[in-house]
Amino acid sequence: MQKFLGELWATDLDHSPFDVVAWHGNNVPYKYDLRRFNVYGTVSFDHPDPSIFTVLTSPGTVHGQANIDFAIFPPRWMVAEGTFRPPWFHRNRMNELMGLIKGTYDAKAEGFVPGGISLHNCMSAHGPDNATTEQAIAADLAPHKIDQSMAFMFETGSVLRASRHALDCPQRQQDYDACWAGMSKTFDKGSL
Ligand SMILES: [Fe+2]
Repeated sequence: MQKFLGELWATDLDHSPFDVVAWHGNNVPYKYDLRRFNVYGTVSFDHPDPSIFTVLTSPGTVHGQANIDFAIFPPRWMVAEGTFRPPWFHRNRMNELMGLIKGTYDAKAEGFVPGGISLHNCMSAHGPDNATTEQAIAADLAPHKIDQSMAFMFETGSVLRASRHALDCPQRQQDYDACWAGMSKTFDKGSL
């Protein structure tokens, strides 16, 4: 599958493109056990930028905007005090494709299952769902371990356009924005 001039082009191969005896240049296939990634995070307060979870990056021509970053969200301790711990509500100049390998993601209490992906293109507002937000506001901020979970994100400076096949898939979530239904009532409580 290749993208050229804004269109997707497919061809069938009778073998795997990785079925080779050698690689030329500096591109090599590499297998990395994500569980070995050393996770950083705050030990005081605030929610650090998720770029701390970057495993691989391809720098772009614009400073601070990578061609593509590959980040993961593995098991880790959450200990921040006086902090709304889930990822904040935000818009991003980058384009974010998130996926879940196993467990649950800390910004989506429900509706984001292993094998699923979400796509927030450049400047699309997004953040934790309503249930997650209410739980985080009411939470006792004791040390808490996010365990048995592995999420990942490709963050790229290029806008990602879903294929017609993806848009027509019956598995596509038609009411994605419903996860923020009632959010204004949450903030009206004045807990933040
Ligand atoms: Fe985001």
